[in-house]
Amino acid sequence: MTHALRHDGSLADPELAGFRDLERVGALTRVSERELVRVLQVVAVCQPVLLGDPRKRASRHVGELHLRELDHLRLAAEPCASATVAAATGERRHDGGDRGNRFDPQRSADVTLVLVTGGCGFVGSHVVDELVAGGADVRVLDLLHPLSHERAPEYLNPEAEYVFGDIRDPELVAQCVDGVESVSHQAAMVGLGSDFGDVVDYVGHNDLGTATLLRELARRPAPARLVLASSMVVYGEGRYRCEEHGLVRPEPRKQERLEAGAFEPTCSLCSRSLAPEAVPEDARIDPRNVYAATKAQQEQLCAAFARETGAAVTALRYHNVYGPRMPRDTPYAGVASIFRSALEGGRAPQVFEDGRQLRDFVHVRDVAAANVLALGAPATGAFNVASGEPHSVGDLASDLAAAIGGAAPETTGDYRLGDVRHVFASTERAAAELGFRAKVSFAEGVRELATAPLR
Ligand SMILES: NC(=O)c1ccc[n+]([C@@H]2O[C@H](COP(=O)([O-])OP(=O)(O)OC[C@H]3O[C@@H](n4cnc5c(N)ncnc54)[C@H](O)[C@@H]3O)[C@@H](O)[C@H]2O)c1
Ligand SMILES: [Zn+2]
Repeated sequence: MTHALRHDGSLADPELAGFRDLERVGALTRVSERELVRVLQVVAVCQPVLLGDPRKRASRHVGELHLRELDHLRLAAEPCASATVAAATGERRHDGGDRGNRFDPQRSADVTLVLVTGGCGFVGSHVVDELVAGGADVRVLDLLHPLSHERAPEYLNPEAEYVFGDIRDPELVAQCVDGVESVSHQAAMVGLGSDFGDVVDYVGHNDLGTATLLRELARRPAPARLVLASSMVVYGEGRYRCEEHGLVRPEPRKQERLEAGAFEPTCSLCSRSLAPEAVPEDARIDPRNVYAATKAQQEQLCAAFARETGAAVTALRYHNVYGPRMPRDTPYAGVASIFRSALEGGRAPQVFEDGRQLRDFVHVRDVAAANVLALGAPATGAFNVASGEPHSVGDLASDLAAAIGGAAPETTGDYRLGDVRHVFASTERAAAELGFRAKVSFAEGVRELATAPLR
């Protein structure tokens, strides 16, 4: 196997002209020769980037790696193929004398090895960059999910080790957690999805994936620190106060009211309008869609894991994350990137409801910083990761339009059943126990988003 994979820099050549012994490798790995060629293509294309080749000769190829290839590879050769990519990548890193990976028995004991699942994604990739910058050794496990990546991203960190495979694959996960001191669990299917037909995929990637990771972590002799990427969607609605009845939980908004343009939730006891307030972490969990249900389940599984193993587990409830590397305009992308895509295409951003719905937009570099703090902190439990400054969705659209110099937003009055009216966070607990405070202001973040590379 090593012979087939040991090759000089010309590995960047996706023609694979230099590979020999394919038949032997195929026999060893139970992957057909044709599938193996595909695996090696992935390795060949990504490798100089993964290896930190300063010449980055293959970086242009990374963008050309079509996910169809990976998909085909996954379907046809699972799970051997992903493991092979991992092994192949590890071999090369070892050959190259790079620091820290599981295939390198010489790895120095005093360097922290962190596993970042979903480390090729929007948030995960920034976590990887922060950890690497702080001197940690980082291993990434990511499937390059086709809904999330049309092609392999160009921003992979050359100092990290990349394992391309599925968190639902127990063998691969067992290999990935080996030697790891802490885990940042970002891998998930995100967004609201297109319809209920997505339910099995959401539960599979998010909950079965988390369960698989937790089981492998629980089998290790010593617990690893675990930080879960959770979400404010677990709260359902935000928090509201009635001047007569105090804190109240409004029912999901009724279609007739939304149809009539009455977007504000009202008190179910007296029908007065309600004042929104920042949501603290002890607010009731009330997931109101499939994605939210899978995030709540992730938290609950992680809490059970913490109780049974004694591991320290922290759930970071991100609010609306925005910034460079956001996925583009898809049903799974956040509103900021949907607006940005519209403006780039010369269209006016379409703002739902009356545009006055409040959110907490938190910059992705702040979210990455919160993850790094949590990985090093003794604090456990759930924490809001937010800016603490509510802004309306309409303001986001108009500020972004102004920054880009694009068409003024249109407020459409459209709505999605189940959407939250207002949700923004109390940031006190994260400040007190994690020492986390968002640093990137809304004005600065929106200005940057106007030109930031999306994915
Ligand atoms: N972006 C936000 O506004 C936001 C808000 C709250 C919470 N979150 C959470 O943050 C985390 C990261 O989200 P993101 O916005 O970076 O999304 P993303 O889609 O950019 O990243 C998720 C990554 O997970 C990978 N992945 C998916 N299924 C996998 C599997 N089965 N095995 C291995 N890898 C898999 C994908 O390939 C992708 O690279 C998620 O857990 C999400 O629920 C995000
Ligand atoms: Zn009331």
